[in-house]
Amino acid sequence: MDDSRQTTSTPAEDRFSLDDRLPADYFSTTLHADVRRGLGGRPRTLPPKWFYDKRGSDLFEQITRLPEYYPTRAEQEILERRAPEIAQLTRAATLIELGSGSSRKTRLLLDALTAGGTLRRYAPLDVSAAALEEAGRAICRDYPDLRVTATVADFEGGLALSDEPGPRLLAFLGSTIGNFDQSQRAAFYRMLALELTSDDVLLLGADLVKEPEVLVRAYDDAAGVTAEFDKNVLHVLNRELGADFDPDAYDHVAVWNTEQERIEMHLRARRAQTVKIPDLDLSVDFAEGEDLRTELSCKFRRESLTAELKAGGFTVRHWWTDTARRFALLLVVPI
Ligand code: SAH
Ligand code: AVI
Repeated sequence: MDDSRQTTSTPAEDRFSLDDRLPADYFSTTLHADVRRGLGGRPRTLPPKWFYDKRGSDLFEQITRLPEYYPTRAEQEILERRAPEIAQLTRAATLIELGSGSSRKTRLLLDALTAGGTLRRYAPLDVSAAALEEAGRAICRDYPDLRVTATVADFEGGLALSDEPGPRLLAFLGSTIGNFDQSQRAAFYRMLALELTSDDVLLLGADLVKEPEVLVRAYDDAAGVTAEFDKNVLHVLNRELGADFDPDAYDHVAVWNTEQERIEMHLRARRAQTVKIPDLDLSVDFAEGEDLRTELSCKFRRESLTAELKAGGFTVRHWWTDTARRFALLLVVPI
């Protein structure tokens, strides 16, 4: 055993930090406002970020291993092939990751950047403290020279980047960008353009338009894991707001919206019902068959995604796909 290396490397617990930047009143302001707006209007909607408590993050991780859910495997295939090239092109000292979740695919980037000798810091940011804690500590153990500075934050409210060593590579994987609609994406690019410098590079994962049957199956799997994930948002509202949703009184439905080229997840009321949300002093009536839209998952085409990034202040330098052309990974720079 190489003792000299053991004594000089910093213990894993000293290389990990978790900074909770969610405001103390995050639930009483943002969740309250989202639920009031989303359940008060028609169609009834909820923003997808509320799926991800500990159980929701675990269910998403199960989804990524389902036979029907191809995006994770397709992106993984691209990363396996391209990570060394990405490391060479960016020579990043910091890898920042938005919506990092389990950071499983990220390890391919960490491996390549570590092998390239440039990486000093990994800075994951997620709204799920549980996911950051678990993934961050495991990465510290497995990468003995890496500092991991995790941030619990809502990336819709800005990134609050600080003293990370540059050059910085900002990864936004998994096609989480597709969970924004077009105007939310435009606002997101504006925010990124303000926060990134000309030395920073963005690595963006984007799921591509394909046969509707493949898409619907990916969001309505045979084992019912996606249905559980979808209904988890009702459990979150019951716990956080004292609501009395009966998750069994809704069917999970995945719909391909041809015009907007997006999958929509809906919870469809099996019967007419009234839900009480005491913390908001709100009562919501659902008719039989009425939908609550819980998520959009937009699918992309090369030309229009390149154009919207350009309008947002970014140029696409590389567009890589998996061999079956299901998913794209883009290396993007500020104009
Ligand atoms: N990047 C991973 C995980 C994708 S799941 C992958 O590709 O597999 C989406 C992740 O984004 C979850 O971990 C969720 O907690 C996080 N997330 C969703 N909305 C968020 C928001 N507004 N701010 C910060 N994180 C968010
Ligand atoms: C995180 N996000 C990109 C996933 C998606 O595919 O839109 C969330 C998801 N919803 C259902 N399955 C997976």
